[in-house]
Amino acid sequence: MNLDSHSASPLPASVDTTLALLGRGDYIADRSLATAVYLALKLRRPLFLEGEAGVGKTEIAKVLAGTLGRQLIRLQCYEGLDVASAVYEWNYARQMIEIRLAEAGQQGRDSVEEEIFSEPSLGGPPVLLIDELDRTDEPFEAYLLEILSDFQVTIPEIGTIKAKEPPIVVITSNRTREIHDALKRRCFYYWVDYPDAKRELEILKVKAPGAAEQLSREIVGFVQKLRTTDLFKLPGVAETIDWTQALMQLDVLTLTPEAINDTLGVLLKYQDDIGKIQGSEALRLLTQVKAELAAAGD
Ligand SMILES: Nc1ncnc2c1ncn2[C@@H]1O[C@H](COP(=O)(O)OP(=O)(O)OP(=O)(O)O)[C@@H](O)[C@H]1O
Ligand SMILES: [Mg+2]
Repeated sequence: MNLDSHSASPLPASVDTTLALLGRGDYIADRSLATAVYLALKLRRPLFLEGEAGVGKTEIAKVLAGTLGRQLIRLQCYEGLDVASAVYEWNYARQMIEIRLAEAGQQGRDSVEEEIFSEPSLGGPPVLLIDELDRTDEPFEAYLLEILSDFQVTIPEIGTIKAKEPPIVVITSNRTREIHDALKRRCFYYWVDYPDAKRELEILKVKAPGAAEQLSREIVGFVQKLRTTDLFKLPGVAETIDWTQALMQLDVLTLTPEAINDTLGVLLKYQDDIGKIQGSEALRLLTQVKAELAAAGD
């Protein structure tokens, strides 16, 4: 990825250019995702991404910021996050507030109005990532609604801070709880699904480029099979990438039952899941994968 973060690029003009833009950031999107991203940018709506863990939700915001040459402002949500800490933790906002406070001290305090969401030197509004919104509670959602409706925040001692140009907003959720309709209504919603085998193989090509083609195919085949199994926590794309790297470290050239059993902890993170797959089930799935690859002419 060769990105000049100091020159802002124009927003993509079509679904195809959006696909290409994400591709430049090593993000392999399918057309429906590129369409959602394109429309959210075009219609200036926040993009609301829901999906299981490790399917590439957060990465979309990072790649958009990188490829568009915008600053990324990330607000990591957590249980008990309140408005005040959100505003202060919001690094960039905090800096702006401190600057404004200092200025207000000299010039007398009225309401402080400043563009906290746009960074002039970067030539375009930043990407605001509100990550894992489902971890916060409802009062915080109400506060977000305020931000998303007029892109301004009100801080008791300081006043109201308003963005000159609205940022590109990406919200993610793992759906550990439902997000309110009022918030969803303001967004463009997209469910990020697990990739199919073809796309997951493409992802491996860019994210684990050293892996041999045959090994990558076996890995993808095995992970895809695992995702049809009844497990407590299915492996995401992140796990597929990690597993590939782990197998490469061990100089594994082709999947074997032993290699799988020795490295299952990279793929599955619950002992019950590991217990279920280890041994005969791994062998059964692997045999199916090898047979299917052979039948497909590999
Ligand atoms: N379509 C894709 N193209 C390229 N890389 C991808 C893709 N999907 C996922 N990845 C990679 O998978 C990893 C996990 O992605 P990410 O952190 O965005 O997942 P997430 O959905 O935010 O997960 P979580 O819910 O656990 O936060 C990253 O390294 C990312 O680069
Ligand atoms: Mg994430």
